[in-house]
Amino acid sequence: MADDNRTAKLTIDGQDFDLPIHSPTAGPDVLDIRKLYGQAGVFTYDPGFTSTASCDSTITFIDGQKGELLHRGYPIDQLASQSHYLEVCYLLLYGELPSAAQLADFEDRVTHHTMLHEQMVYFFRGFRRDAHPMAIMVGVVGAMAAFYHDSTDINDPWQREVASIRLIAKMPTIAAWAYKYSVGQPFVYPRNDLTYAENFLHMCFSVPAAEYKVNPILSRAMDRIFMLHADHEQNASTSTVRLASSSGANPFACIAAGIACLWGPAHGGANQACLEMLKEIGTPDQIPEYIERAKDKNDPFRLMGFGHRVYKNFDPRAKVMKESADEVLELLGIENNPLLQTAKELEKQALEDDYFVEKKLFPNVDFYSGIILEAMGFPTAMFTPIFALSRTVGWVSQWKEQLADPQLKIGRPRQLYLGETARDYVSIDNR
Ligand code: CMC
Repeated sequence: MADDNRTAKLTIDGQDFDLPIHSPTAGPDVLDIRKLYGQAGVFTYDPGFTSTASCDSTITFIDGQKGELLHRGYPIDQLASQSHYLEVCYLLLYGELPSAAQLADFEDRVTHHTMLHEQMVYFFRGFRRDAHPMAIMVGVVGAMAAFYHDSTDINDPWQREVASIRLIAKMPTIAAWAYKYSVGQPFVYPRNDLTYAENFLHMCFSVPAAEYKVNPILSRAMDRIFMLHADHEQNASTSTVRLASSSGANPFACIAAGIACLWGPAHGGANQACLEMLKEIGTPDQIPEYIERAKDKNDPFRLMGFGHRVYKNFDPRAKVMKESADEVLELLGIENNPLLQTAKELEKQALEDDYFVEKKLFPNVDFYSGIILEAMGFPTAMFTPIFALSRTVGWVSQWKEQLADPQLKIGRPRQLYLGETARDYVSIDNR
């Protein structure tokens, strides 16, 4: 953290307090209020953390005004067009792009950790067939702590490394098995001769009765979806992982907490919600009615796949996702897919509408991902699990970074208390 001895002055009831200002390598300056309560006896108030940096980090940077997303300094559009998911995983985890030998070793380690402990099959079988795959993922990932005892000691760097590789390697197997279970098909075991994306498609779509050949354009699109979701700075699920981890919880419990948070429709659940919304809209002539509903303060309806806390210009991931959607639909010969037509028209009309312009609401990554995933044959319930498996590397990288920080403290926010002050207990007969 660059410290140039600049301070901000805060005056409370005539008394001055100096707050150090930290200069980041990119992004706005940060006021350090860590000693404020001790010195001035006041808290700061920021529900939703709209003005609060919860940690320092060197992993991912977002410039919401420019629509820029950098992983370890590399722009997401360059990574999406020139790199691939496992290389991005290496970059996020270790800070630099790998050499050929480092990448081969990393890929080998991930590939050889994709199988699940066989006993976990029974864990899957305990769920109802109609369980949402995110419910299964929260349960199964949390349960990994009961199966992999040799990688739960967070104070041992080797165990942290093994847990990281296990989580990245096994998440596609867990997501694919959650899907297979829901459709009543046998679990398909991972194959070491396939790439990460090919293997996931294989585990989702192959059946013992027929040979399954992965289409390279689809596996490329799958890989790109993984890359575009790999990390996103201190978003809600990542902050959840960090908060869970700050108490010293084991890695599997922390990542399960992240999955639970991601599930919500304001976060990763938006991709499922967006596709359901497009289906509900049905045809382009219905769009004005839905735009009016989204603008109506008395209607809880929001345009799913629109808006972002940080991006106020465009979401660079949505741009790449849109290109991918066009590519995949063309390959599958469904360019005239009615959902895509509705999505494109909705995007056009919303971007021309004063409400969306003034509030700087643009399509986000979830707007187009659902269309690609549906075209690839995934049911809507699988969209958020795919987001979760892609984001696992981001959660793991941020978790590792946090544990390596010598200043690590348990996360313990305070509050603006507006309840009753102390009062005497009244016995039940006198109430
Ligand atoms: N449709 C209609 N109005 C909206 C929308 C929307 N999608 N998003 C924000 N607004 C309005 C909101 O009502 C508010 O209006 P006002 O200032 O009059 O109260 C204003 O825009 C600012 O919104 P906010 O809710 O205060 O902003 P936020 O930063 O707290 O929320 C968000 C960001 C992503 C939760 C929100 O835009 C949203 O709910 N979008 C739809 C869900 C979605 O697509 N989520 C995926 C986000 S990207 C992937 C991910 O992070 O997982």
